[in-house]
Amino acid sequence: MRQRLLYIKTFGCQMNERDSEIIEQLLYPSGFIPAAEMSDADLVIINTCSIRAKAEQKVYSLLGQLRQYKLKSPGMLIGVAGCVAQQEGPAIQQRMPHVDMVVGTQQIYQLPEMIRMLDHGVAGPKLAVNLDSSFLVPSFHSYHNKTKNSAPSPALKVFKKFVTIMQGCNNYCSYCVVPYTRGKEISRPMADILDEIKVLLARGISEITLLGQNVNSYGQTNPVADVPVNFANLLQQVSILPGLQRLRFTTSNPKDLSEELMLCFAEIENLCPQFHLPVQSGSDRILKQMNRKYTVADYMNKVQILRNYSPDLALSTDIIVGFPGESDDDFEASMDLLNTVRFHSSFSFKYSDRPGTRSADFDNKVEETVKSERLARFQALQDSISLERNKEYVDRVMEIIVEGSGKNNFLYGRTITNHIVHFPEVRGRKFEHGDVVNVQINLAGQHSLTGKFIGEHKKS
Ligand code: SAH
Ligand code: SF4
Ligand code: F3S
Repeated sequence: MRQRLLYIKTFGCQMNERDSEIIEQLLYPSGFIPAAEMSDADLVIINTCSIRAKAEQKVYSLLGQLRQYKLKSPGMLIGVAGCVAQQEGPAIQQRMPHVDMVVGTQQIYQLPEMIRMLDHGVAGPKLAVNLDSSFLVPSFHSYHNKTKNSAPSPALKVFKKFVTIMQGCNNYCSYCVVPYTRGKEISRPMADILDEIKVLLARGISEITLLGQNVNSYGQTNPVADVPVNFANLLQQVSILPGLQRLRFTTSNPKDLSEELMLCFAEIENLCPQFHLPVQSGSDRILKQMNRKYTVADYMNKVQILRNYSPDLALSTDIIVGFPGESDDDFEASMDLLNTVRFHSSFSFKYSDRPGTRSADFDNKVEETVKSERLARFQALQDSISLERNKEYVDRVMEIIVEGSGKNNFLYGRTITNHIVHFPEVRGRKFEHGDVVNVQINLAGQHSLTGKFIGEHKKS
């Protein structure tokens, strides 16, 4: 079979990253292998995100650049997938005639057939963007350990993988486009998920991250087994699979965070003490407008319980500044929340109007300059808190899984709390990705730690 080069550019969240991996796996049997550069590729797929206007603009500017590439190499095929494709499919086709295929979030599986038809000059659908409420995420076991344009190398061993456990979202937070781009919440059957993870573990994967827009409601909206199951049950079942060293999950809406799930952090040994729990605002008035269905007191209460169960838990969050109607006082409430919880890290965003969402029609939009000021203040405070938090690790010995090498003969890896740790190479000791080692921390930065290798990690 003729080999061709594939370049996938992924925007957005881990769901998209996982989908891009599936696209790569789907196209491998048709002879597509990864390209090092976009301009060299025979097929370019842009896997898009529409969570904020900026993410969407990036897609359009990249598509503009691709028009130039295609003028030079007219045989290049261009596909658009993901959340912008889902929402704007027909408009993309109209505005961008150089795009050959547009597939929505449930239609990536049709790509091989669409390409086959294009190859044979057969007229077929070039746009597939239906959202089906009975869609089931298929299992994907095949995987080849190839890096860009090179043979598999043991030093670049893949040791961690994402596993999608559910699709879509039913929460309709007033600002959010996801329910419109990913459709209704559908949980995958537990047996499928366990099978997929078993195959990964048998291939040497040791770290799994379970993915969903709100994993806390796993199994609650559609029956996934003869007996009712919830996310805590799933975590327990996954955690006992032989060979699994680290288990993580993302994301959680605080409204569905149960006591049973919080208890998992105390009871499941390989569940990493790291939790991303987006709060969005520190003002009850704004949370109500956002349709988040919890109060600041509810959130604080859960943080307290989590920290009782897991004192070393590294908490992170998401915050939106400048939601319509956010007053100075509302914003100060978000700053107060940050000072009280002292998150290890946070992702903060300026509110962005998204088509089809309820808040796009709200009055009292906050001015761009005010949003920028608030964001800068928020991020400066978070940076100083992150630095203080990270200093707490200095002198501690931490277990790292090595995942890459950086500049100046340094390697890096992650702790169970998901902190990145850099450490210098050691003469006479060759590190491979996936090695579990002990590093003593000697320096804390805002976004990472630095330390020195002090020996192999031995399981206690
Ligand atoms: N499912 C996750 C969120 C996924 S979207 C949850 O419920 O927590 C990731 C983050 O993008 C959100 O947590 C939110 O902070 C941000 N976000 C979503 N829509 C946005 C918008 N319209 N403007 C600005 N930020 C937004
Ligand atoms: Fe969006 Fe809310 Fe669903 Fe998260 S829970 S994906 S913020 S609608
Ligand atoms: Fe973006 Fe879609 Fe994920 S909008 S954040 S890629 S679900």
